[in-house]
Amino acid sequence: MDKQEITPYIEEISALVTSQLQQTVPATWDIPAHLREAMSYSLMAGGKRLRPLLVIAAAEALQGRREAALPVACAVEMVHTYSLIHDDLPAMDDDDYRRGKPTNHKVFGEAMAILAGDALLTHAFYSVVQASRHHGVPAEAALAIVEELSLFAGPSGMVGGQVADMEGEQGLTNLDQLRYIHEHKTGDLIVFCLKAGGRIASATTEQLQALETFGRAIGLAFQIQDDILDLVGDESKLGKKTQSDVKQQKVTYPYFIGLEESRAEVDRLTKQAKEAVSGGVIPQPECLIGIANYLMNRDR
Ligand code: IPE
Ligand code: IPE
Ligand code: MG
Ligand code: MG
Ligand code: MG
Repeated sequence: MDKQEITPYIEEISALVTSQLQQTVPATWDIPAHLREAMSYSLMAGGKRLRPLLVIAAAEALQGRREAALPVACAVEMVHTYSLIHDDLPAMDDDDYRRGKPTNHKVFGEAMAILAGDALLTHAFYSVVQASRHHGVPAEAALAIVEELSLFAGPSGMVGGQVADMEGEQGLTNLDQLRYIHEHKTGDLIVFCLKAGGRIASATTEQLQALETFGRAIGLAFQIQDDILDLVGDESKLGKKTQSDVKQQKVTYPYFIGLEESRAEVDRLTKQAKEAVSGGVIPQPECLIGIANYLMNRDR
């Protein structure tokens, strides 16, 4: 599938996820108004919804149901959004713009930004469980999804990667260390998406393995592309300031191997991802392949 063919699929799922996220915290719940506002501000600021897209596309590649995947798709977007709110804080990357708007702490203050992040992270687990409560996902599958969300987003996953990123700012000396950071801070949550989608569609072990290999490769490619765009991207398209990595003295792929080699690496990883799902193990891999192509050429 090429870019023209995949775009309507991406847009349709993005719209579905956005409308579902609008109602994800029930209006009847008694929540401090400012907290609700701060959570919704970042959730609704216009992210690409890549991670929810991957959950749903993985489920559908195995003929799973979109409605059953939706609560998990929303959950991962909440975890991702919390990670961005915290990533932008002055104590971390100290960024003022995100998703085309002032960052959460710029609008609501640091304390509320921290708490809005905490709330999104916690509510994500509530959302995963709803797939089982309301959409027939077997409790055993929901349990595995909860377990993997903790593993891939927690200390052994995304949070561990963020710590390594923070500690590595000056002292990184080789590409393997940088790959470790990228695989954890960004790759792990993407791998989670693919596996969770697979689990919703009752994937076999072999199918889960193929989805994981796909996720590993596009996950690393995605963060390398993020590094490239931080250097040469267009702020108005990205919705965030470029040169953030330079300002924070981050070691990145382009820093180590240069822009052209970084682009070649994105290319190579994308091919590897497509191969992982093309061998016949995944019955309908077309959308996953389309998404991989789309990401390789992204400018936002
Ligand atoms: C940005 O993620 C942070 C990274 C892990 C590279 P995205 O580029 O997916 O950000 P949104 O969700 O579209 O804002
Ligand atoms: C962010 O990486 C990774 C997470 C939020 C987990 P970056 O710091 O490179 O993301 P951007 O460039 O600010 O979006
Ligand atoms: Mg960061
Ligand atoms: Mg950042
Ligand atoms: Mg970045």
